[in-house]
Amino acid sequence: MNNNTMRMRRLRQKNFLRLLLSETNFTLDDLIYPLFVTHGRGLRQEIDSMPGIYHISLDNLISEVDEIARLNIKAVMLFGIPESKSDVGMEAYDNGGIIQESIRVIKQTIPDIVIITDVCLCQYTTHGHCGIVHNNVVDNDASLEILGKIAVSQAEAGSDIIAPSSMMDMQVLSIRDTLDLAGFKDIPIMSYSAKYSSSFYGPFRSAVDSSPQFGDRNSYQINPANAKEAIREIELDINQGTDLIMVKPALSYLDIISLAQQKFDYPLAAFNTSGEYSMVKSASLKGWIDEKKMVYEIITSIKRAGANMIISYHAKDIASWFNNELD
Ligand code: PBG
Ligand code: ZN
Repeated sequence: MNNNTMRMRRLRQKNFLRLLLSETNFTLDDLIYPLFVTHGRGLRQEIDSMPGIYHISLDNLISEVDEIARLNIKAVMLFGIPESKSDVGMEAYDNGGIIQESIRVIKQTIPDIVIITDVCLCQYTTHGHCGIVHNNVVDNDASLEILGKIAVSQAEAGSDIIAPSSMMDMQVLSIRDTLDLAGFKDIPIMSYSAKYSSSFYGPFRSAVDSSPQFGDRNSYQINPANAKEAIREIELDINQGTDLIMVKPALSYLDIISLAQQKFDYPLAAFNTSGEYSMVKSASLKGWIDEKKMVYEIITSIKRAGANMIISYHAKDIASWFNNELD
């Protein structure tokens, strides 16, 4: 059959046809909103490197989460800024730590919102690495024990999903065992399985003061040049019992999202990171781009690549755009 007369434009003529033919859609149910919680009182301070995103103190957390819930966002991911740092990152597993307190505050008043907690050490350690440092080297196995403690303390406070992000080998296996032993068999793990050593974390690191004080994260995060290695990381996490997998960052790694989606029948999250957010936000503040259109295009592309859920600093913006469209 000769198809040379096929006219693709036939189906693009009318808006309702275009809508009918849309292959990819997203809703607020697909989005997870990151929150930065800090000690102190009365704080709601905009983060320099991330316009529109705030450091929020515990006493302001409820009004913030209440607004998020009213906007119809179903899940938040918590990041804490500790009172003080130590070599082993003690506050990360302190029952009275910033994350543990935040979880309790939210669960008491807004129990239905899903709370996902990042399990890592970099915000909490003096050296800024994601694990325990011995002789200037990040000690994998010594770190596992602490990561387990962090996970259990978050579960005890009421976290719904534990998200290990330190990229230590065997972290999923070790955290799963520790959670099970502590009686948290039903708490799922969302592993940052394919986490790249990326410049797209820059604004986040200045927001939470977590830059490594010596060296870099190249000895534990993935080289951006590698795809097969990411697939092996995901495979290992699945074998260790992770419930959900993640690719991070999102936009420069759409190929990895797509590969992971084809290869693994696992719920797949993508982290649309701080750098990706700040690029769009700053260009939008300059008036150089149409922010709403660009964000819709970005989120659609991440879903089209195969992510089931997207962690996005734009979630609140998206929710208010949706609400305005309904008016
Ligand atoms: C902790 C962590 C980081 C991010 C999420 N969890 C930073 C890093 O690995 O340096 C980055 C989030 C973002 O850039 O939005 N390890
Ligand atoms: Zn870290």
